[in-house]
Amino acid sequence: MSARMDYRFARRLASLEASATAAMTARVAQMRAAGIKVISFSVGEPDFDTPEPIKQAAIAGIQANHTHYTPTGGTLELRKVIAARVSTDQGLSYGIGQVTVTTGAKEALYLAFQALCDEGDEALIPAPYWVSYVEQAKLAGATPVTPQTGEQTGFKLTPDQLRAGLSDRTRIVVLNSPSNPTGAVYSAEELAALAVVLRDHPAIIITDEIYDAISYVPYARLLRVAPDLAERTLVVNGAAKAYAMTGWRVGYVAGPQPIIEAIKAIQSHTSTHTSSISQDAALAAYTPNPDIEVTVAAMTAEFQRRRDLILGLLAEIPGVTCTVPDGAFYVFPNVSALLNRPLRNGKVCTTSDELNLYLLEEAHIACVAGEAFGAPGYLRLSYATGSEEIRVGMQRFREAVLGNDAA
Ligand SMILES: Cc1ncc(COP(=O)(O)O)c(C=O)c1O
Repeated sequence: MSARMDYRFARRLASLEASATAAMTARVAQMRAAGIKVISFSVGEPDFDTPEPIKQAAIAGIQANHTHYTPTGGTLELRKVIAARVSTDQGLSYGIGQVTVTTGAKEALYLAFQALCDEGDEALIPAPYWVSYVEQAKLAGATPVTPQTGEQTGFKLTPDQLRAGLSDRTRIVVLNSPSNPTGAVYSAEELAALAVVLRDHPAIIITDEIYDAISYVPYARLLRVAPDLAERTLVVNGAAKAYAMTGWRVGYVAGPQPIIEAIKAIQSHTSTHTSSISQDAALAAYTPNPDIEVTVAAMTAEFQRRRDLILGLLAEIPGVTCTVPDGAFYVFPNVSALLNRPLRNGKVCTTSDELNLYLLEEAHIACVAGEAFGAPGYLRLSYATGSEEIRVGMQRFREAVLGNDAA
């Protein structure tokens, strides 16, 4: 390698933060390779396998040689079933020209930011937020504006906070319900109150509904309570969480045709489309099928049992409090009372980031620190893991944070 080689990167990368969740996954893999039995609460994916009929559809797709390029934005059949799904979900009529299939919901969001934002624009993203919104906004040249929601509102943005966060530069407002990382689910009344404020501002709204199947309370959608906002709302969703299909990489975005066309134009020069085989799998997932619906409902019921289990065990850890999440598969406990005081062996952590590392090294449990989601003082734990692991993991957590006397 030449010593004079200049590995210079584009300016837009200067403020890009690598994914904290991915970093945690890599560190866990390293520790496990060294023979350490780490229990991971850090991954954001169901631990279930993809339902059988979906896998069979993909196998049939390979046998039928569905191995060629598909149209940008997905096959006609897939866009048809997704348009029908979105129409049913939103109570509105979506045509296939209003849908594009993407390489996961993550790409849908990335393309939306790329299509809509210019340098100097702002993207309003309530904190705590899913890490990628902020990075994707920055990659598109926009400045993230992140009003801090808290436990007193169940980590939900209030109309006043929304109003205060909007400016004449706001281009995008992101809403995510159920939320990653907090599990917060907005009620119809809360969404209607936000819609009142949104009506007064011309921003494009992105509603990320990827955890919609995993809600333990009646699920409300923005466009159900404010259909008049459809002309400037993008609905993002995907197969990953509902159908345990994270690795297949299928998401979609539905919305006004001109925006979908713009998104597809970028897509045509980047990924072109998600895998043809994954599209066959997604076609099976999104085609109404009672067998698959039963499996999805069973997965959600199991997540709810685990949520109750982990909440009960967290409540037994002195210094930890936790808002009850109504959806997704995350708990977001407040651990601030564990900071700046001696833990086992006299160790003192001053930030949730430090506590997170301490728990990994001392208790061999992997969580993600709230800092990654714009909310210091918290940890995110995914309970998409077995009940026994939850029990053992929470026991380790408890023992590691008790002071010497109590231990
Ligand atoms: C809130 C949220 N949106 C979008 C995504 C992206 O999902 P996908 O795997 O479909 O790209 C995730 C994944 O963790 C998520 O938590």
